[in-house]
Amino acid sequence: MLVIRAKNYEELSRKAAKYIANQVELKPNSVLGLATGSTPVGTYKELIRYCQEEGLSFRKIRTVNLDEYYGLRPDHEQSYRHFMDHNLFDHIDILKENTHVPDGLTQDPCAFGEAYDEMISVLGGIDLQLLGIGSNGHIAFNEPNQHFVAPTHLVKLSQNTLEDNARFFDSIDEVPPQAITMGMRSIMRAKRILILASGVNKAEAVKGMLEGEIDPMLPASILQLHPDVVLIADNEALSLCTPE
Ligand code: PGA
Repeated sequence: MLVIRAKNYEELSRKAAKYIANQVELKPNSVLGLATGSTPVGTYKELIRYCQEEGLSFRKIRTVNLDEYYGLRPDHEQSYRHFMDHNLFDHIDILKENTHVPDGLTQDPCAFGEAYDEMISVLGGIDLQLLGIGSNGHIAFNEPNQHFVAPTHLVKLSQNTLEDNARFFDSIDEVPPQAITMGMRSIMRAKRILILASGVNKAEAVKGMLEGEIDPMLPASILQLHPDVVLIADNEALSLCTPE
């Protein structure tokens, strides 16, 4: 894994956006795997600037998102469909029909998961997957577990994640307890992976991901097995790592 250090969140966002913009320029019909959460917001802002001020076009780009809260309607303020529209898609020249976010209302999560993974294959697989990392080491909503789960699936969110995400809701009781998440198969099949980490609350998870054993109790550690992963992290997120 290549580690790129940023001095702070702003620099991290600029470097990440540049990395994604290069992918879009080199392959204008790329399939981008996209993430939600606080971390990519600055990156998306910078990508919007590239599009609006520097002529970067997303016209042929296809996107697949990592996850969606189970039970939230796409127009719910905290749904990840709403997040993506609001933070990126509404401000760039992407065609909405080329953007895919898991269906949080599916009645049959198992069949939906299979269809979502199949759709990703039919698109040609993910060219560049953007990831965040949870303070518990989750990627997408693949929570610490006894084993890695391969397909897109319904997952029960951990207490740690409910607490982390309560800040977006009026209270922790309003955080949906389940989500549909891309599993490890589609993530690990991505040709390239870019993972972002910012802030001291990610430091322990980042250290485990880079220096620990591969362990489903720290899901991001599976990325050690992928041949093309770049981590862009700020000084705080790297603060527990052994200096090179
Ligand atoms: P955050 O979430 O960007 O809001 O910290 C990251 C994640 O949970 O993957």
